[in-house]
Amino acid sequence: MRQPRLLRAVAILWCIACSGSFPALSAKPPPAPVAMPASLPDAPIRFDAREKTVQVPSGQTEAHFSFAVTNVSPTNITVTALHPSCGCTAAKLPSTPWVLAPGHGGVVTATMNLAGKYGTVIKSLTVISDAGSFPLTLRAAMAEDAYQNLQRNAERSRNLQVAAADRQAVFRGDCARCHVEPTKGKSGRDLYSAACGICHDSPHRASMVPALRGRPVAFPTVYWNQWILHGKEGSLMPAFALSKGGPLSPEQCDSLTAYLTGEFLKEATPGKAPSPSITPATIK
Ligand code: HEC
Ligand code: HEC
Repeated sequence: MRQPRLLRAVAILWCIACSGSFPALSAKPPPAPVAMPASLPDAPIRFDAREKTVQVPSGQTEAHFSFAVTNVSPTNITVTALHPSCGCTAAKLPSTPWVLAPGHGGVVTATMNLAGKYGTVIKSLTVISDAGSFPLTLRAAMAEDAYQNLQRNAERSRNLQVAAADRQAVFRGDCARCHVEPTKGKSGRDLYSAACGICHDSPHRASMVPALRGRPVAFPTVYWNQWILHGKEGSLMPAFALSKGGPLSPEQCDSLTAYLTGEFLKEATPGKAPSPSITPATIK
């Protein structure tokens, strides 16, 4: 059912062997201070790109990102925090808080853990500062060999069969490793990513899983409560309420609804309309 032991051992060894030679993206020196532009652009902070794609060789379970940041405003800017969209991404500021003098800059780095993931994984990282919040998009494009591809498709059609027989099965047994464990202790946006985004935001999702992002309607609280608590009988959409055999506490469900009727509406649709600041070479 899983990868044969030998193959896995080879993959692990390969990974250990190559881990030292991963392109040292995060080791780039900070760019030299730039002269103040004559006319100020709208954003007080400039990024070398707002969206980056890293190609991940097969066997590698981490993707490393770095964003060059420059204060293009005439006053000091203090960056106070980085907010990754998922627990799988660890991000680092040069210091906390990080004070940027006018014209000065540095590099923000992030490492995405890709264990158990495949295909193109898209996450966001929000830079929080006293001059505003700036969302960055991180894409890890994972290479796959033909064997893994075949195996994944086989595993997936088995999962689909199991879910078609019982939509709540997704919360039990081995399925819980990906569909329940990552939701534990989470709320709001992080919980959405782990509990809902796994199906609804996956670029590989099956055709019967509708997109929730980018819809023209702002759905009300009752709509979200209904779907989250009860799902839909006769479909693959499970019920998340504890009382229905789901994994989420009433507080977690409420935090999801609050997120989905608020912040969610302002967030970009992953995989849609790349921002013009992306370098063409970084897009797969
Ligand atoms: C196991 C995969 C899976 C997970 C996890 C999942 N969904 Fe769904 N969801 C589906 C499927 C499949 C449908 C389509 C149901 C149908 O046939 O109408 C659906 C439908 C929906 C719809 C209706 C959308 C429409 O346009 O009709 C909403 C809203 C929704 N899900 C919200 C959520 C939320 C919120 C979460 C997280 C708490 C979540 N889903 C988690 C698979 C999933
Ligand atoms: C290794 C992690 C993992 C495990 C284990 C797992 N899933 Fe999933 N599941 C995913 C991901 C990721 C998606 C999103 C679609 C994709 O990327 O293939 C998904 C999507 C789904 C969907 C939506 C339909 C689709 O294929 O897009 C259903 C239904 C589902 N899983 C049911 C199950 C069931 C039932 C089990 C256990 C028998 C299970 N999953 C085990 C990761 C997992």
